Amino acid sequence: MENTATLENAVSTEDFLPLNGTDHIEFWVGNAKQSAYYYQAAYGFKLVAYAGPETGLKDRASYVLQQGKVRFVLTSALHGDHEISNHHQLHGDGVKVLALWVDDAKKSFEETTKRGAKAAMEPVTLKDGHGEVTIAAIHTYGETIHKFVERSNYSGAFMPGYEAVEGMEVNPVGFEYVDHCVGNVELGQMNEWVKFYEDVMGFKLLITFDDKDISTEYTALMSKVVSNGNGYVKFPINEPAQGKKKSQIEEYLDFYKTGGVQHIAIATKDIIKTVGEMRKRGIEFLYVPDNYYDDLLDRVGEIEEDIEPLKKLNILVDRDDEGYLLQIFTRPVQDRPTVFFEIIQRRGAKSFGKGNFKALFEAIEREQERRGTL
Ligand code: FE2
Repeated sequence: MENTATLENAVSTEDFLPLNGTDHIEFWVGNAKQSAYYYQAAYGFKLVAYAGPETGLKDRASYVLQQGKVRFVLTSALHGDHEISNHHQLHGDGVKVLALWVDDAKKSFEETTKRGAKAAMEPVTLKDGHGEVTIAAIHTYGETIHKFVERSNYSGAFMPGYEAVEGMEVNPVGFEYVDHCVGNVELGQMNEWVKFYEDVMGFKLLITFDDKDISTEYTALMSKVVSNGNGYVKFPINEPAQGKKKSQIEEYLDFYKTGGVQHIAIATKDIIKTVGEMRKRGIEFLYVPDNYYDDLLDRVGEIEEDIEPLKKLNILVDRDDEGYLLQIFTRPVQDRPTVFFEIIQRRGAKSFGKGNFKALFEAIEREQERRGTL
């Protein structure tokens, strides 16, 4: 009876919302057909499934793309005055669904709505010849929703209603899995959403960044990172803080009109190769001046990579107690300065690149200046 630690652990690890990871991320866009081409040609995603009029879905078209464990769904409405058209008119292209892979969608829905989550979709089980998938959804910040997806032995391309399709031939860039998804919320809302993830979804607060960590001459923001029990799902939440001029978070909110997903970080095992390929295919990244690399090794210590390719590709490096990480951020991937991607390679580090915030935000400010929104 000495081993009280085990008992403690048993109690504290009781997880009412066990998550297996990110199931998929659905973007509502203006022209899913062309977006699908962009993600295939430029990022090397494989088109695996489609739903639309040809499959019996009369009001929309959805393209399912996959690379490694990263799965995107791109959806457009086929008519005006439709939930998706209205969403697109207000927000532009953006993330509607952060779908979480669960073993029990009904229980996930019940446990979260019982704790105060607003229901977005009651549990429903979809069936076809490949098996069944149960889905349910709850609201989170802005108009974003979390879908719970339960795939009990489903062997089809995506889920019932979708048909497997053969897309164009693609060259993957090395995307492995979704590392984290960041949300921007309005001033004063960050703590409420952190509380939502803690109370309603059983997440734990991992890290807090205040405006002393993250401020430049102009931009200031606050950020808190929440994580689910096993750490597979991490959601940093940002809110603007008072700066001299308009912060990047305010710029996002001005264009997205509500809170929403700011960036999706995708993990790779070889960032030099991944970013080299993406650059070749025309993907634009934030520019950090060459002098960032002058004292890099003094700041981060020994790293396995050569500095030259990192400098050439503009890849950033940061270290924490457990190791280091390499990261880079794309420019926004639509005309509105809203959603963008981060490419990240972790070499032990579990953090988010705090040491790079200043260099990065100065880079973002240079771009805001060009857009006239600073
Ligand atoms: Fe990030």
